[in-house]
Amino acid sequence: MISTDRRELYVDGCSAVQLAEEYGTPLLVLSEDHIRSRCRELRDTFLSRYPETRAAYAAKAFLCLELCRILEEEGLCLDVVSGGELYTALQAGFPPERIEMNGNNKSPEEIRMAVEHGVGRIILDGADELDLVEQVCRELNKKANVLIRISPGVDSHTHQFITTGNLDSKFGIPLAPSIFAGVFRRILSSQYVNLLGFHYHIGSQLHDNESHLKATGILLDLIRELKTSYGYRTAEINIGGGFGIRYTDEDDEKPYEYFLDPVMEMIRQAFNEMELPMPAVVIEPGRSIVGNAGVTLYRVGTVKEIPGVRRYVSVDGGMTDNIRPALYDAQYECSLANRDPRLPGAPQATASETAPAPELVTICGKCCESGDILIRDTLLPAPRRGDLLAVYSTGAYCASMASNYNRLPFLPVVMTRGGRHRLVVRRQTYQDLISRDL
Ligand code: LLP
Repeated sequence: MISTDRRELYVDGCSAVQLAEEYGTPLLVLSEDHIRSRCRELRDTFLSRYPETRAAYAAKAFLCLELCRILEEEGLCLDVVSGGELYTALQAGFPPERIEMNGNNKSPEEIRMAVEHGVGRIILDGADELDLVEQVCRELNKKANVLIRISPGVDSHTHQFITTGNLDSKFGIPLAPSIFAGVFRRILSSQYVNLLGFHYHIGSQLHDNESHLKATGILLDLIRELKTSYGYRTAEINIGGGFGIRYTDEDDEKPYEYFLDPVMEMIRQAFNEMELPMPAVVIEPGRSIVGNAGVTLYRVGTVKEIPGVRRYVSVDGGMTDNIRPALYDAQYECSLANRDPRLPGAPQATASETAPAPELVTICGKCCESGDILIRDTLLPAPRRGDLLAVYSTGAYCASMASNYNRLPFLPVVMTRGGRHRLVVRRQTYQDLISRDL
């Protein structure tokens, strides 16, 4: 929860200026109050309203031990896509039966780890993955609960790099009968896996429910056909994540109900008609839980004026802690946390008694890469060396996509809650940087 006393920025009642002094910059501040309130919204609008529903937080958006503990407490499940995410969850003591494993190319070792620890679901993403799961289950004498991830052939309206449900996609099993029917029959007859149902995920940062509705329609047609042809009764449907958030005024953020109510109604009607009991329905929100909880604090360094061209304001992080502007042309809002703390969504800077008149500036990082631009053309009141820049909505897909380019250390993460703060991920040290070098 971000607030201001018009001189300084506060996150959950903690002064951004003090946080930066105590923990250094760049720093990712994550509002635990915000994360918990998003979990509450999910409970109020979906989990408590519909029986047999679960929300598996998509760990790829951001993960650390402390977040696992919070999500566990909030009653969420976890969607992991790698051995590393699974390891983190297990180390945090997250109940394995509440973990689901996704991923388009799970290694035999990752599958073994998942089966050994008894994760709740493995989402099969390709025909040959069944062989791997069967082999591991045979060796361990276990049976795994699985879902089939289908590729519904739906184009979602978002950046091309983050659509996942269209036909030309590396994710999921295409519904072409020549492919799907064979996999389905093999799974049904396998003694090592228990097929609970189906999964789709169509894309991320969506503001329109059209793709979810289309994909649900396609999935329900499939479920009908499998009931007619094989007498198969689907017990679980997972509709992935993708619920968009507000980064700038361009984004029309919708409440969870906008996506989920019509999907639930479609499923209810279809299962009613098929005379089947309502299946369990699972969602996998990532960005919508943590995205707006994050604020990255940077210290302003060099300011360069190129007359008639542009004023570059450099900060002490950049594409290493937020690759999204370079990769997706993602847009962010910012303000000066120490003297012009505009809140996200507030009008751009105006001259005030505390701040000089706003100037058009471009915020760039410190990487040796011309594309290391965080925000192009934003109004700030004459930023100068030493100012503290806050970039908003950096909770999702920033720290989790970080790199050590130019051997810049990963930034630390501080969580805030009700006026208190604590370090949950420490800053990487130079020693850490060489710790794997032989
Ligand atoms: N479930 C599956 C199977 C997924 O592939 C994803 C995201 C999610 C759930 C969570 O989606 P969300 O609710 O966070 O939209 N790096 C990109 C986003 C990639 C998302 C990939 N899959 C970005 O920074 O925008």
